Amino acid sequence: MAHLIDEVLFQSGNKFKNRIVMAPMTIQSAFFDGGVTQQMITYYAARSGDAGAVIVESAFVENYGRAFPGALGIDTDGKIAGLKQLADAIKAKGSKAILQIYHAGRMATPEFNGGHKPISASPVAALRDNAETPLEMTEEQIEEMIELFGNAVNRAIIAGFDGVEIHGANTYLIQQFFSPHSNRRNDRWGGNIEKRTTFPLAVLAKTKQVAQSHNKTDFIVGYRFSPEEIEEPGIRFEDTMFLLDKLATEGLDYFHFSMGSWARNSIVNPEDKEPLINKYRQLQSEAVASVPVIGVGGIAQTGDAQKALAQGYDMVAVGKGYLVEPTWATKALNNETCAEFADIAQQEALLIPTPLWDIMDYMIVDSAAEAEKHQRIKELQGIEIRFQPGTYTAYGRGHNGDLPVTVTFSEDEILEIVVDSSRESDGIANPAFERIPQQIVDEQTLNIDVISGATVSSQAVIDGVSNAVDLAGGHSEALRVKARKAVEWIAQTIEESADVVVIGGGGAGLSAALTALDKGKSVILLEKFPAIGGNTVRTGGWVNAAEPAWQGDFAALAGEKETLMALAETPESEFAGEYLDDFRTLKSQLDDYFNQHDHGNKYLFDSVELHRIQTYLGGKRTDLNGETIYGQYDLVKQLTSRSMESIDWLSEKGIEFERGLVDIAVGALWRRAHKPKRPKGVEFVDKLQKRILEQNGRIITDTRATDLIVEDGKVVGVKAIQANGNELIVKASHGVVMTSGGFGANTQMIKKYNTYWKNIADDIKTTNSPALVGDGIEMGEKVGAELVGMGFAQLMPIGDPKSGALLTGLIVPPENFVFVNQKGKRFVDECGTRDKLADSFFDNGGTVYMIADAEIRKTAANTSDETIAREISEGIILEADTLEELADKIGVPQAEFVQTIKQYNTCVEQGHDPEFNKSAFGLKVEQGPFYATPRQPSIHHTMGGLKIDTSTRVIGMDGNVIAGLYAAGEVTGGIHAGNRLGGNALIDIFTFGRIAGESAADLV
Ligand SMILES: Cc1cc2nc3c(=O)[nH]c(=O)nc-3n(C[C@H](O)[C@H](O)[C@H](O)COP(=O)(O)OP(=O)(O)OC[C@H]3O[C@@H](n4cnc5c(N)ncnc54)[C@H](O)[C@@H]3O)c2cc1C
Ligand SMILES: Cc1cc2nc3c(=O)[nH]c(=O)nc-3n(C[C@H](O)[C@H](O)[C@H](O)COP(=O)(O)O)c2cc1C
Repeated sequence: MAHLIDEVLFQSGNKFKNRIVMAPMTIQSAFFDGGVTQQMITYYAARSGDAGAVIVESAFVENYGRAFPGALGIDTDGKIAGLKQLADAIKAKGSKAILQIYHAGRMATPEFNGGHKPISASPVAALRDNAETPLEMTEEQIEEMIELFGNAVNRAIIAGFDGVEIHGANTYLIQQFFSPHSNRRNDRWGGNIEKRTTFPLAVLAKTKQVAQSHNKTDFIVGYRFSPEEIEEPGIRFEDTMFLLDKLATEGLDYFHFSMGSWARNSIVNPEDKEPLINKYRQLQSEAVASVPVIGVGGIAQTGDAQKALAQGYDMVAVGKGYLVEPTWATKALNNETCAEFADIAQQEALLIPTPLWDIMDYMIVDSAAEAEKHQRIKELQGIEIRFQPGTYTAYGRGHNGDLPVTVTFSEDEILEIVVDSSRESDGIANPAFERIPQQIVDEQTLNIDVISGATVSSQAVIDGVSNAVDLAGGHSEALRVKARKAVEWIAQTIEESADVVVIGGGGAGLSAALTALDKGKSVILLEKFPAIGGNTVRTGGWVNAAEPAWQGDFAALAGEKETLMALAETPESEFAGEYLDDFRTLKSQLDDYFNQHDHGNKYLFDSVELHRIQTYLGGKRTDLNGETIYGQYDLVKQLTSRSMESIDWLSEKGIEFERGLVDIAVGALWRRAHKPKRPKGVEFVDKLQKRILEQNGRIITDTRATDLIVEDGKVVGVKAIQANGNELIVKASHGVVMTSGGFGANTQMIKKYNTYWKNIADDIKTTNSPALVGDGIEMGEKVGAELVGMGFAQLMPIGDPKSGALLTGLIVPPENFVFVNQKGKRFVDECGTRDKLADSFFDNGGTVYMIADAEIRKTAANTSDETIAREISEGIILEADTLEELADKIGVPQAEFVQTIKQYNTCVEQGHDPEFNKSAFGLKVEQGPFYATPRQPSIHHTMGGLKIDTSTRVIGMDGNVIAGLYAAGEVTGGIHAGNRLGGNALIDIFTFGRIAGESAADLV
């Protein structure tokens, strides 16, 4: 193993005096044209001397190839003088001066390149927000680009640099030519992996040729690479090794990984834990082995650097360490601790230009403020806390307004806390109301962790007690920082067993558990959060099931018959063969209905076939790759034909449905929702849970299943980790039912699989519980399950722009929706499917407004007068007496807005919307006060997941059933395909949840 202090000798005959280099870091401080500034020279000089080499930040080889504002350039001869001063300053201090050269290709945004459209190997936009589609480079432009790289090398040599680093990483042009994502060419520059190496090899050859022409045989040439790409298709590690072998065979001095951590494993196969440097050493060819390689990322101290060398790198590069410790190498070589943060007052001393300082905010600490804070905590911890004995009631802010908390104190203790959760909890157990008070009393401190999944309620209790402490003359600030008792963790392994083990306590899990219990089986249900409920408890409670006998008692709404007529006229060519018979049956049902309608019998039509066909058409989607997906027929048939059986089962279990109203969820396409009387999904979770406990089912919360246990090819149990650190092993004699929900709260996972949305922003909000990160899909994959439809995630168009939540504001039935954009105009059929709505919201600036009047307000089923008043005071809903005033409040032109509403009201009167073809109409917007609720799409549902059959048995990659494993609910795929209809998820979980419980109990 090499030591940090050792020299490195290169093929060219040149060398570095030690194994530490400063990593290239753009400091965004060049002149507007890319010329070197004095500030840059001072910055680099201060960091030179002790490292073997300083790799100067990437310099663009062509004026329109910049990736950043303030980028350094080497595109004209005029820049040589400045570059020479820079190289001289580095060399004078004793480090080798290397310059990184690049062209940003498709990453060269017009914003930083005088409005120029970017260029690349192929016209494929990068997978990032607002990425521009680049122009495809002609052969001539490619040849010219190689010349431009050559010219840059020529200038670097004249300027006196010891070498150049060819920037083949960080998704810039050279990497773009090697990547199958950005290079779709079919000429000598692309078409297969061999051809995709042509451009990088040509740049290397040109570099060497230019060095040769100067007789600079010892000119150092390095190559930086990003080992993998997450894109599909994208560069895989084996591809990189193929390229490096080609480059090494041509001859060069070093390779340089580009990664955030030197110890990193694959980002494409994260389950493969082998560090990439190990793979590199295993896969390296003889030629690659002869080229020293630099590791980078997260090297903060000497120990990290030594570990990196021990792991197999020949040198280390230090980036951020050099920002805050300009003599990093000296300190590291002397085994001294290196700074990892800068103090807020140090910008000048560290000679850091302001644009760089601005992006370093996470590395900057305010030591003086921190010290003051620590001092204050020390003082507070020294205060003796006394109370005026007695009982006091104070309030915290819960979900539904003020939460009353009554606290009894002695002179020096909190004796009892009673939380009045009647307005909050809706009858369902909320662990925050039990555990937080208990912990406060046990530990006599307010320094308590909030409970995951119940953060608002936890904080409300803590704040309520805190306010009561002050009423009792105590000192809440001191109590909030009072030290807690150290928790002793004695992790042990506990073994349990049952006939059926269910993973996840949402609606699917509860239905499966209860059905298995009804069949006389013993059941253990594991739930990772402190409370069960998952997304199910968050729902509006809309459950779709065609019940014509009931729906037929309600009158048809304006526009509904026209919607059915349009549906009946859908060409048969739009149907997959297996759905055709149902479509024909539906058409004959509709003929009969239209006939009755024409004779004045205008009732609300429905049938199982209409539900099935709408599920099919609503889910049929084509993704960005041109792949079309639709619901698997046997599963959709099962869902729609057994839906009423599920409603009856729920009623039998005590769920009380509102029979006086047929409702419709957003994006449901039809009025067929059965909705519990008690608002939201709490009714299902509460009643099913009670039944399970009554029948001796066990629900174990705070327990996260991590793995399925497989013996002789059969799933026979589950491994789980409990919040107290215990490992729980639960054996299942009959089967394991996976009902762990979807992955709507895992944006990275959605982005990884997404093939449908052009862009999913990293900070997009979600309506989901934070628990829903795809655990079950991962567990299933580990035992060989096949995944279906993973590329399709549903966005909820009407999410709260701040929190992502669905049920804030005035959520009225779609027939009463009126959406206006930021110009005050309507833009879409408000009854459309969710993806169409979300797309139209994005096209209209992201945030749009739902408009309501006093009458429409009354149809909002998600809220109460009290909540509406609170949300108005918090700006979640905007209220105004007149439309003009409302226009001002939402910042849209008055005249446009008033005209829009006038036109909309005419459409309602006529039952016809010539502009957007709204398919059903309810109320007009005419009576003040008027309301606007701002809305923005957030992630709502993940349609893809484990593949199942009609008995909910999980299917493996080999097409065979995985014995002992069943799955139901949002963890599965195949039913809703590209777009789930509003109200179809709940009927899915209750139908397939029941089937899963039945199948596991009966060993199907
Ligand atoms: C705000 C909102 C409103 C909605 N409204 C409606 C509606 O009105 N109608 C409709 O049809 N659909 C609606 N949906 C969709 C619907 O709620 C879900 O698709 C459905 O509830 C999923 O049920 P499930 O049982 O599969 O999963 P969930 O109800 O999400 O339950 C999964 C459970 O598994 C647990 N879990 C996850 N991983 C593990 C692990 N490793 N170990 C142990 N436990 C684990 C989770 O904590 C969670 O409790 C709505 C969704 C949201 C977010
Ligand atoms: C401010 C900043 C600018 C960077 N600019 C470049 C660059 O111009 N070229 C490059 O290849 N990498 C660039 N990087 C990546 C670094 O070279 C390095 O790989 C990364 O910071 C990880 O190393 P570290 O953890 O030691 O900082 C930059 C990193 C930072 C923090």
